[in-house]
Amino acid sequence: MARHSPPGYLFAGCHGHNLQGTGKTANLLAGKFRYGAGKRAIATNITNGIIDQGMPAWAGAITKADIDKLVNYIYTKTRKK
Ligand code: HEM
Repeated sequence: MARHSPPGYLFAGCHGHNLQGTGKTANLLAGKFRYGAGKRAIATNITNGIIDQGMPAWAGAITKADIDKLVNYIYTKTRKK
């Protein structure tokens, strides 16, 4: 895996490999965020999860650097062009 690419394989099963969503999750690619589309909200949701909705907490499971990469990747990819 290229050193700079975010570990997308971690979210593909639930969010779709292109963040297009699955039966469990909304289409983030279309910017359909329910818990905040800003970088801080995305970082909080990845770090702490949204446990009652089935989103796992990634704090401790992946590095802070990987969480930051995922936040920047999701934020950039989901902005309206
Ligand atoms: C590192 C990998 C992952 C990342 C970066 C990630 C990212 C996110 C983000 C940013 C949200 C909030 C979306 C919103 O505001 O609507 C979210 C919600 C969610 N995630 Fe993940 N996720 C990951 C892995 C997973 C996995 C493995 C699952 C399934 C086991 C999952 C299931 C969900 C669910 C069910 C929600 C709530 C969706 C909704 O209520 O619309 N996620 N995730």
